[in-house]
Amino acid sequence: MITVNKLFFGYTKEVFIKDISFMVNKGEIFGFLGPSGAGKSTLQKILIGMLKGYSGSVTVNGLEVRRHGNAFYENIGIDFEFPTLYEKLTARQNLKFFSSLYSKETGNVDRLLGTVGLLPDADKRVSDFSKGMKSRLNFIKALVHDPDILFLDEPTGGLDPTNSHVMKQLILAEKARGKTIILTTHNMQDAHELCDRVAFIVEGRLKALDTPHNLIMKKSAAKIEYTYTENGMEKNGECEINATAADRLLNSLIKQNRILTIHSKEQTLGDVFMDITGRRLT
Ligand SMILES: Nc1ncnc2c1ncn2[C@@H]1O[C@H](COP(=O)(O)OP(=O)(O)O)[C@@H](O)[C@H]1O
Ligand SMILES: [Mg+2]
Repeated sequence: MITVNKLFFGYTKEVFIKDISFMVNKGEIFGFLGPSGAGKSTLQKILIGMLKGYSGSVTVNGLEVRRHGNAFYENIGIDFEFPTLYEKLTARQNLKFFSSLYSKETGNVDRLLGTVGLLPDADKRVSDFSKGMKSRLNFIKALVHDPDILFLDEPTGGLDPTNSHVMKQLILAEKARGKTIILTTHNMQDAHELCDRVAFIVEGRLKALDTPHNLIMKKSAAKIEYTYTENGMEKNGECEINATAADRLLNSLIKQNRILTIHSKEQTLGDVFMDITGRRLT
């Protein structure tokens, strides 16, 4: 669906995006994960044809993005990081207006408002909407023309846990409808929950690319953490889960029945990101 090969790009003469190659398959959720300023939004803007001065190749639906005409936008939906809505118009007027920009006969405004629970607020001005409502409206704005590919830039950015959960469910529902989704995030939890595959982006470079599960399994062993008492004091110990037999302290504590607590701890995607890139996500 999308092929990126040896991509380089700079806003100035200095090259910022350096030698990035990857492919996105039809029907998958593909994530760019990286800290602020890593180049995630820049990459997305190249994929949607907003930044054309790149070198290398970027094809979407088999055609080089640089050469796509306006018809390209009939097939892709874009949810920018910050809502781009007309505040003085109502939710329904916004969607009707944006629908009118496409040649496809859409007519699914009410259905879309319903899917995000905004039907009761359809005739309220957007200026009276909360942040969560605006995010949901901005999201369905990207869907009015029923595109095959969705580009979402930090879709849960700035949302509280409840709204963030709602947004993730909406994204998964679009995947279930067969859409291909490219999203950027600096949130490891979102990347883990949503993405089939994740690209780690740091300073304009791609540092790793795999499923969240494989990234975690490949890089870092899970650990066991335990507590025990010694001379009346509580103490902590830890060892890698695949090296418990070699941990003499742990084995003797078990034989003496001195373990107070014990649990295994999986590495998070954020731990792995730190391991691979040497950078934190925030
Ligand atoms: N229009 C622009 N002109 C010049 N530099 C820009 C522009 N947009 C972004 N940048 C710079 O490019 C870098 C990457 O930005 P961005 O792609 O927005 O990162 P991310 O989305 O990962 O936070 C940052 O250093 C940013 O300041
Ligand atoms: Mg960004």
